Amino acid sequence: MAELTPPRTVLVTGATGGVGSAVARRLHADGWIVYAAHRKPTDEAALRDAGYTPVRMELTDEESLATAAETVGPRLDGLVNSAAVMGQGPVELTPAEAWRRQFEINVIGQTAVIRAFLPALRSASGRIVNVGAVSARVPPPFFGPIAASKAALSALTQALRMELRHQGVKVSLVEPGAMDTPIFATADKASAETGWAGSSETQQLYARALDAVRTTAARQTLGPVDPAVTAIVRALTARRPATLYTTGRDGRALALLRFLPDGVRERLLLRGMGVTAEAFAKTPVPVG
Ligand SMILES: NC(=O)c1ccc[n+]([C@@H]2O[C@H](COP(=O)([O-])OP(=O)(O)OC[C@H]3O[C@@H](n4cnc5c(N)ncnc54)[C@H](OP(=O)(O)O)[C@@H]3O)[C@@H](O)[C@H]2O)c1
Repeated sequence: MAELTPPRTVLVTGATGGVGSAVARRLHADGWIVYAAHRKPTDEAALRDAGYTPVRMELTDEESLATAAETVGPRLDGLVNSAAVMGQGPVELTPAEAWRRQFEINVIGQTAVIRAFLPALRSASGRIVNVGAVSARVPPPFFGPIAASKAALSALTQALRMELRHQGVKVSLVEPGAMDTPIFATADKASAETGWAGSSETQQLYARALDAVRTTAARQTLGPVDPAVTAIVRALTARRPATLYTTGRDGRALALLRFLPDGVRERLLLRGMGVTAEAFAKTPVPVG
């Protein structure tokens, strides 16, 4: 399939992160003018040195988005919505504050970015690429917060695509599997800061399972960001971009699990995370 000439301008959110920085690098090398969204002032110089135009944006601050839209100007060919945070932990132990942060950034913040830049995208018949996660379709245990936020992103992306169908703006969703980026360390730090909800007795119900999940995660080799980056570039440049790109070997394998009967899929997911029935034993184990 013939590909379009690379459009001129792209805004990459989360350009200081694992996926966003790799996307910005690839698009810049391909000749795009890259607006690199960051939130910490200390990141600005490095982004400028890399050849991008840094744009300060905090997803939860609509004023910062309006200022960023003014910087980018009246035309924008591509928006890559990569900025996000990952909330993890049992549904019962996740405090309301952590749920709010998860949805405030990954859903409300993402839609605010889309709202802020749609006028410029419309002017250029541009493209939107939302970065979701395969956990939206096959939510693993103890990753409910991130999976729920990505399921919401998936739903709103599908609605948005139909709403923009006759406005010349194409919308794609890229759903990667696990990738080796700072998102896991950031998530651990945020969980440690927020702490768990529930009494110590309730927390003990999950202690062994959480230990098992941590042990399994420590042994896991995470995939590279390259397949997700390639899919994002394809969604921006293909004459007929796909509505959904599922990327990474584990991402594609996980997506297939949704065709299994619920009971089989859930047993496989628990086993894959190292969580056995004994892990739910009601013995007093402190939650780490
Ligand atoms: N890594 C994975 O395993 C994985 C798997 C599936 C899907 N994904 C998705 O891929 C995308 C990129 O993730 P990643 O792995 O590259 O994560 P990452 O390395 O942690 O990068 C996240 C980026 O988002 C920015 N960000 C976070 N909160 C923000 C806010 N409130 N306002 C503005 N920017 C904010 C961060 O800025 P700071 O640098 O200032 O914190 C950072 O640039 C995300 O949508 C993620 O959910 C990742």
